[in-house]
Amino acid sequence: MRESTITNLPGYDSATLDQEFARLERQVDEERVMLRTDEAREAFRVHWLGRKQGKLKAISDAWVKGAPSDRKGAVGQRFNELKTKIEAAIVVAQINPLLARMSPEEKAVFTGSAQQMLAEKLKEQQQAKKLDITLPGTSQRTGVEHPLVKTMAEIVSVFQRMGYSVGLGPEVESDFYNFESLNFPPNHPARDTQDTLVVGDQEKKPLRERLLMRTHTSPVQIRSMLEQDPPLRLIIPGKVHRNDAADATHSPVFHQVEGLCVDTNITFSDLKGTLDNAMKAFFGSAVKTRFFPSFFPFTEPSADVQISCIFCGGKGCRKCKQSGWIELLGCGMVDPNVFGAVNQRRIELGREPVYDTRRISGFAFGMGVDRITMMKYGISDIGLLYSGDMRFLEQFA
Ligand code: DAH
Repeated sequence: MRESTITNLPGYDSATLDQEFARLERQVDEERVMLRTDEAREAFRVHWLGRKQGKLKAISDAWVKGAPSDRKGAVGQRFNELKTKIEAAIVVAQINPLLARMSPEEKAVFTGSAQQMLAEKLKEQQQAKKLDITLPGTSQRTGVEHPLVKTMAEIVSVFQRMGYSVGLGPEVESDFYNFESLNFPPNHPARDTQDTLVVGDQEKKPLRERLLMRTHTSPVQIRSMLEQDPPLRLIIPGKVHRNDAADATHSPVFHQVEGLCVDTNITFSDLKGTLDNAMKAFFGSAVKTRFFPSFFPFTEPSADVQISCIFCGGKGCRKCKQSGWIELLGCGMVDPNVFGAVNQRRIELGREPVYDTRRISGFAFGMGVDRITMMKYGISDIGLLYSGDMRFLEQFA
């Protein structure tokens, strides 16, 4: 065993450390090849790792402990690598006699798995090296519910408390569900009110099968009636798409909540009572509602619903354009043609056409979630809801 006493380091800069530790590693390499007997191996172990007289102990005392505090990490890391190398040399020396007794096949398997273990160990060490605990951390911030999702959930829960279940449907819809079954015949001018984004390259398909981005949540009415027999009470939240240019009040993506109630003896009074009750539950009991004649292809009669202005209580202000009322949703009694389309499709699907208009009737309604959210929180630009800007969204935490 080569003798060498540990003298103080000439310096703690990286170049000096590399040089000094490389010299020690060369010594280990020279010595490890000569460890052919148990005695030699034990002498090597005591020489390097001996608790009191070992060389590593001396290095630790002289170089590591004596290092200036900002160089301790650099010395410590090289020290640990040297120690691992020495320990590995001892293990290899122990294994060598076993290897000598193995058949070539056994040896191949053994060295294969040993190499793999060594490679994994090295990888671990390298990864540990990459971790610089002095770098500032990345904080994991807790997410918050998006204001649109929050509003949608609140509206849904108002109706759930009135006995409604939640219905959902796809955002990519067929022309049949989005338009035809809802009493918008092909080429009917009512289609012009919903400028539609369509999926390309479908000219070969019949019109009713062509795919589009749903322009409203109303197709889920049809899907639900195909699946379920009456009575039905559904509240349907969802995302919808239209080919509208974005401005302060329009976005090509927006949200709606749709409602559908079908049973025996459902009248317009039920519709009025239900919506009046729901608006009071959502906006506060002082809110009044009023109904105006309107048109939707899938309801007859149809109405637009206004609520008394939630900002001025009906006196008239800038928000309600001095009228005292705010327009909020569309509604009506389900058109018999819609039940007819459902029955016909049920027959095509081999199901009973149970939506018999002599026995049952229903009402439906639909509202824009974005507008309600903007009103509730005083948001003046719809684009903010889709900007993904944390400075905006964090205000709703
Ligand atoms: N689907 C309509 C739209 O997007 C909104 C609507 C109106 C839904 C009346 C309804 C309804 O269910 O009865 O413009």
